[in-house]
Amino acid sequence: MKRYHPFLVGLHWLIAVMIFVALILGGPSLAEIPNDSPDKMFGLTGHMIWGLTIGALMITRLLVRVFAKAPPHADAGSAVLNSGAKLAHLGLYALVFSMVGSGIALAYSADLFSIVFGASDAALPPNFSVFTARTVHGIIATVLLVLIGLHVAGWAYHQLYLRDRLISRMWFGKRS
Ligand code: HEM
Ligand code: HEM
Repeated sequence: MKRYHPFLVGLHWLIAVMIFVALILGGPSLAEIPNDSPDKMFGLTGHMIWGLTIGALMITRLLVRVFAKAPPHADAGSAVLNSGAKLAHLGLYALVFSMVGSGIALAYSADLFSIVFGASDAALPPNFSVFTARTVHGIIATVLLVLIGLHVAGWAYHQLYLRDRLISRMWFGKRS
C-alpha cells in the first residue's frame, strides 16, 4: 500500500485549502469588521457556514481514515521524528476540531445561530471579546497555524532532504 485512499487524498487537500482560507483570510478579516458594521452579518454568515463545513468534512475524513486501509507510517529515519510526526498528525485533528468546537461555543455564547441565521431580530453584541470562547478561538488559531507550519516543514524534510517523494502518499495514483 503506497498511498492513502483517493477519497482521503481529495479531502486532505480540500480541507487544507478551506482551513488556509479561514485561518489566513476569512477569520482575521472578519475580526477586523466592527460588530455594528452592516457588513458584519454577511461575514459572519460566510465564516460560520465555512467553519461548520470544515467540521463536517473532518468528521467524514476521520471516519473513512479509521476504516480504510492506509499505507504504513512513513519513516523519517529516527524514532523521535517518527513519533513527532504521529503526534503532529493527532495534533492537527485535535486542533481543527477544537477550532470548530470553540467557534460553535462562541456562536452559542453570543446567540449567533439565532441572530445570524435569521430566527432572531436582536442586534449583535457590541464585540465578542467578552466571551471566553472568542479568546480560545483566537489562541487555537495561532497554535494551529504554527502546527501547520511544522507539518509543511516535515513534508519539506522528507521531500527535499530524504528525497522519498512523501507527497505521492497524499496524491492520486495506483495504491499497490
Ligand atoms: C490546513 C492544512 C493541513 C492540515 C490540517 C493537514 C492535516 C494532515 C493530517 C491530519 C495528516 C495525516 C493523515 C492521516 O493519517 O489521516 C496529513 C498528512 C499529510 N499531509 Fe497534511 N495537512 C495540511 C496541509 C498540508 C500541506 C500544505 C502539505 C504539503 C505541503 C501536506 C502534506 C501532507 C502529506 C505528504 C501527508 C502524508 C504524510 C504521511 O504519509 O505520513 N499537508 N495532513
Ligand atoms: C476550522 C474552522 C475555523 C477556522 C480555521 C476559524 C478561524 C478563525 C479565525 C482565524 C478567526 C479570527 C481570530 C482572531 O483574529 O483572533 C475567527 C473568528 C471567529 N470565528 Fe472562526 N474559524 C473556524 C470555525 C468557526 C466556526 C465553526 C464558527 C461558528 C459556528 C466560527 C465563528 C467565529 C466567530 C464568531 C469569530 C469572531 C469574529 C470577530 O471577532 O468578529 N468559526 N475564526
